[in-house]
Amino acid sequence: MEIIIRPDARSAVLLAAQIVSDRLRTRPDIVLGLATGRTVAPIYAELVRMHRQEGLDFSRCRCFNLDEYVGLAPDDPRSYRATMQRGLFDLVNVDPARTHVPDGMTTDGRTEGRRYEALIDAAGGIGLQLLGLGENGHIGFNEPKSSVMSRTRMRTLTQRTREQNAPLFGGDRDAVPAQAITMGVGTILDAAELLMVATGSAKADMLARALEGPVDSTISASMIQLHPRCQVVADEAAAASLQYRQYYDWVVRGQGQPLRETG
Ligand code: GLP
Repeated sequence: MEIIIRPDARSAVLLAAQIVSDRLRTRPDIVLGLATGRTVAPIYAELVRMHRQEGLDFSRCRCFNLDEYVGLAPDDPRSYRATMQRGLFDLVNVDPARTHVPDGMTTDGRTEGRRYEALIDAAGGIGLQLLGLGENGHIGFNEPKSSVMSRTRMRTLTQRTREQNAPLFGGDRDAVPAQAITMGVGTILDAAELLMVATGSAKADMLARALEGPVDSTISASMIQLHPRCQVVADEAAAASLQYRQYYDWVVRGQGQPLRETG
């Protein structure tokens, strides 16, 4: 794992966007695993800028989002599908047929999970998976006690997660859907490469537990420690509780640029 700490959220986001765009330029047909949330939204804004000003080309890539709220239709502005359309898909030259988000309107999570996994397999697997970090340590919507073997399926959200995401629902926790359909931890770990981004002091405690604590099924993000090719980009505020902080800086400075193999 390589942990890169930037002075502020803006430079963390710019670095993450640079990593995504580098992969896309190197492999235009890459399969991108995408996340939603306040952390990653400015990464998409930067990718849109690169598309417009530098010709970053999305025409051959495929995109699979991590998760979707159950009960929200794709055209519901609060759905992750609509969020992705507004923030990225409608603003770049990605083929709409190559963008995938789990179907939140499914009544059968098991069948939808299997369908989504089959689509990922048919695309050849995810090349680069972008991840945010939930305040309770979730990745995607893999709430505490998600199995390391889990695949795309329905999960009941914790009240804390509903609170965290309430701002998008008029500040009302109870308006946040109680369930979501999410890639599993196993699905995420199958990606060829992981890129987690965490910014802001609200993430500091959880980031330290996820990266430096034991691999723990109550903190799904800790399971990224098992991945041999994983980069984490954090700002100073999110990195504040990391114990080996000086070492991470030294490694990054010594290498001069992000490592290819990060194990
Ligand atoms: C939601 C998403 C996660 C995301 C998390 C962090 O719960 N399902 O994939 O990582 O939010 O959100 P934020 O970046 O807004 O803090």
